Amino acid sequence: MARIRFQPSGREISSEGSETVLAAALRSGLALPYSCRNGECGTCHGRLVSGEIAPGAAPSTVLGAAAHARGEVLLCQARPVSDLVVEVREVEAVAGLLVRTLPARVAHLERLTHDVMGITLSLPKGRGGLRFLAGQYVDVLLADGRRRSYSLAGPPSDADSLELHVRHVLGGAFSEYVFTELRERDLMRLTGPLGTFFLRQDARPAILVGGGTGLAPLAAMIEEAHRGKSQRPMQLYWGVRSERDLYYAKQLAAWQQVPGFSFTPVLSEPDAHWQGRSGWVHQAVLADHTDLSTVQVYASGPPAMIHAIREEFPAHGLAEDALFYDSFESAVDPAP
Ligand SMILES: Cc1cc2nc3c(=O)[nH]c(=O)nc-3n(C[C@H](O)[C@H](O)[C@H](O)COP(=O)(O)OP(=O)(O)OC[C@H]3O[C@@H](n4cnc5c(N)ncnc54)[C@H](O)[C@@H]3O)c2cc1C
Ligand code: FES
Repeated sequence: MARIRFQPSGREISSEGSETVLAAALRSGLALPYSCRNGECGTCHGRLVSGEIAPGAAPSTVLGAAAHARGEVLLCQARPVSDLVVEVREVEAVAGLLVRTLPARVAHLERLTHDVMGITLSLPKGRGGLRFLAGQYVDVLLADGRRRSYSLAGPPSDADSLELHVRHVLGGAFSEYVFTELRERDLMRLTGPLGTFFLRQDARPAILVGGGTGLAPLAAMIEEAHRGKSQRPMQLYWGVRSERDLYYAKQLAAWQQVPGFSFTPVLSEPDAHWQGRSGWVHQAVLADHTDLSTVQVYASGPPAMIHAIREEFPAHGLAEDALFYDSFESAVDPAP
């Protein structure tokens, strides 16, 4: 057991067995920033002020050279070897949200595109639903104990029903099952809400960048903001391969009626007749915004897109604390 003190909050907890700093913090009700929990995305970085951790929690490839040099580590990988003092930005907004495991029934299945399934789940009545922030995700628990993460695409105000967008990965443990076996009325088990991706209270314009099903958490944020009559300017950039990968036409048309909202689809492999933007979605954002010093950026989708944004946007003035993301990393299954 090790004692871990967090700065600047001064909160102190104990770790158990070989658990990581993040696992110990979440078990103790502390809200640290995190997303993939696999050591891939870099969201959970914190600075080791004192103490010793087991090797392997400071990969400069994930943290970036500057953060690595500052003594930052990935808290989802850091296992204490002695008592620790860790500096990290806690995320108060998710602190009161109880992580629960719940059964959910498939109420509706809808092919949103040739390779994206929309799943509407209904939660059991009388069990209080799931309290979450628009942008968070849940883990789907598979029968063999493995888990897969999916962003909640609907807003939290739709209390008893949850919406997921699942892209078909050929041979994928869960998505293949969704496309070949899952039926309406089937039961699933979920744990959530998870992650710290949500729209921060802030007056600055928000640029939302989605890749593929990375639209899902952004859709929840937009819908919730519009229902709350938010005046905040929001620009959505959505990157997909070709026109047949675009979905959510009805919702996009409705959002575009709201003052201050704009939508730019960006196709990486457009057909000859496509008149809109093409190329990589993050490059379209940079082409429109050479100076990002006055905005916040919310990005979700494929790891390569998130990596490019983390690498390139700071050079255009985006402050370190103005970038929020969920990188859709593949799950790392426990050894059999
Ligand atoms: C925070 C978070 C949120 C996420 N939200 C969503 C979401 O809203 N919608 C969504 O569709 N996915 C989302 N994902 C990804 C999702 O969790 C799964 O990784 C994905 O659906 C593949 O799971 P699977 O069981 O079908 O395939 P797996 O059994 O995990 O993978 C099978 C094989 O395919 C490879 N593979 C996995 N993903 C891809 C890919 N995208 N492209 C090519 N090869 C791949 C794996 O490396 C493996 O070799 C999210 C991930 C994270 C971490
Ligand atoms: S690297 Fe730790 S949460 Fe992703």
